[in-house]
Amino acid sequence: MKKIFAANWKLQKTPLESKSFCEEFLASIDSNFFSDKEVFIFPQNYSVGLVSQTVKGSKISVGPQTVHFEKSGAFTGENSAELAKKFGCDLVLLGHSERRQFFSETNQALAKKVTLCESLDMLPVFCIGESLSERENNQTESVCFSQLDQGLSSADKNKRIVIAYEPVWAIGTGKVATPEQVKDIHAKIFSHMNSLGFKNFQILYGGSVKSDNAGILIQIPHVDGFLIGGASLEPQSFLQICQAK
Ligand code: 13P
Repeated sequence: MKKIFAANWKLQKTPLESKSFCEEFLASIDSNFFSDKEVFIFPQNYSVGLVSQTVKGSKISVGPQTVHFEKSGAFTGENSAELAKKFGCDLVLLGHSERRQFFSETNQALAKKVTLCESLDMLPVFCIGESLSERENNQTESVCFSQLDQGLSSADKNKRIVIAYEPVWAIGTGKVATPEQVKDIHAKIFSHMNSLGFKNFQILYGGSVKSDNAGILIQIPHVDGFLIGGASLEPQSFLQICQAK
């Protein structure tokens, strides 16, 4: 199975900076590059259109960092999944912990977004993960499972979906989860997704992934790739992580 390397640029990079990133990244890879991996980019919203134009014809997939759960209508300030699809996006990042934490995104709203994305043939990259206090209270598993149960309650089990496990305490903190912690929770998420009946899914790890820890983390069973924030902002740093085997 191909490994997935996904860049989440959050509020970083103008459209022109995003375009030059893609040009430099594409100029640095050879024709074999995508034989064993997929690359996803989630640019800041102003840049999604230009990035998707810039990488057109390459194998890089692009998507917004969130969408509204209605396809279209009077929802000032929201992102339309349908429009994103029209200009070439085939993915959407959903349920990032920053959306859950700062924008009160609920599993119920996320369930509608998953359904909408699937109806448009856009691949949901669905984020889950526990906070530090939840981990300290031994709630990691129950938090992740309930995010999956509720957020994917109406998902089509035959369609492909990508889960991104990102412990909130490891995001942007430099505190990466230990290989043992990653191994344990990824195995549990894998079994849980199987028990829910999902047939085609991959599980990414996210949270302070860098080129110096990617090589160890990628070898852990059920780690199918990474969702990367800070270290995905420079083409060469992202490229180094993409070469982890
Ligand atoms: P960092 O890689 O900067 O910790 O961010 C992780 C993340 O939130 C990706 O979605």
